[in-house]
Amino acid sequence: MSSFANDELQQAVRLLEQGQVIGLPTETVYGLAADALNPTALALIFSIKGRPSHHPLILHLADASWLPHYTHSLPPSALLLANAFWPGPLTLLVPKSDQVPDAVTGGRPTVAVRVPAHPLARQVIQNLGRPVAAPSANRFGSVSPTSKQHVLDDLGNDVPLVLDGGPCSIGVESTIVDCTSDSPRLVRPGSVSRADLERVLGVAVPDQDGSVQAPGTLASHYAPRAPVLLVSQEELTKQLGSEAQNLGLLLGVITQAPFDQTVPAHVRLIVLPEDLPAAAQRLYASLRQLDEQGCTRILSTLPPEEGVGLAMADRLRRAAAPRH
Ligand code: TXA
Ligand code: MG
Repeated sequence: MSSFANDELQQAVRLLEQGQVIGLPTETVYGLAADALNPTALALIFSIKGRPSHHPLILHLADASWLPHYTHSLPPSALLLANAFWPGPLTLLVPKSDQVPDAVTGGRPTVAVRVPAHPLARQVIQNLGRPVAAPSANRFGSVSPTSKQHVLDDLGNDVPLVLDGGPCSIGVESTIVDCTSDSPRLVRPGSVSRADLERVLGVAVPDQDGSVQAPGTLASHYAPRAPVLLVSQEELTKQLGSEAQNLGLLLGVITQAPFDQTVPAHVRLIVLPEDLPAAAQRLYASLRQLDEQGCTRILSTLPPEEGVGLAMADRLRRAAAPRH
């Protein structure tokens, strides 16, 4: 690591020790990180993000050997999944130990834990020697940041430091699995797919039934400023043909299909790669880009709901849900 990067790493650790929050890159999205064992620092996360304080946070560990401090009676399914996918984009809901402050879990008896794969995140946590609590570093309800610039755009005035880890390699938030019952449930889809989980566990992993409400699972979430409308490829082709004489409406479009029509002047078109991981990596940056270009409405097609396509479709549906 260059000495410049090393300086920033040390500064990040110092700020966390002082109870401040920082922007921290992970492989999924950038997090708004604080010392998870410092309730005053945790309170800062909620006030900066504008997030209701009963919404629980993910505890980020340097490696799985930290688990016994912060959890208890670890279910066998959690151990299997941790072994298979950590470090990586998977979060496990397990029973918490007394070490975990109520502010992390919103008073729940369970805690969400993950070991991120991004080397910068792991080094910060390792050097701090304590877990870091981090929600995505966006304002509550909006699109998660996948670059340092996104964090600065949203929260630049409120955080003393945002580490630069480059663009996130995954681009959507971690898969969350509830391991607290005998049969594990998928709480939030991510790039570790249902098929990946089922292969390791050897049992079906159905969706969580909705009785556990988490903010990332609210109907309207992950939304850009512009209203989002989901359309089929055929509807899209028709719409783009018919709205050519549009009344000053700047239309953002996100699709994965190669586009052979002429793009009308009032349209800002983003064609994501057909490869699903590559498309997922660019999804949030695309929504932000269309907002920035001043689009008043965004039309998007849905990807095939396999692999990380399920997570993309989930986030696009939430972005398109009626706003509160
Ligand atoms: O990829 C990620 O998971 C990113 C990066 C920064 O690690 N973090 C992230 O955090 O997406 P956040 O706070 O935006 O989403 C965490 C989700 C929320 O839906 C939260 O409600 C849920 O995890 N969660 C956390 N602890 C929980 C608990 N004890 N019980 C139920 N849900 C929980
Ligand atoms: Mg979030």
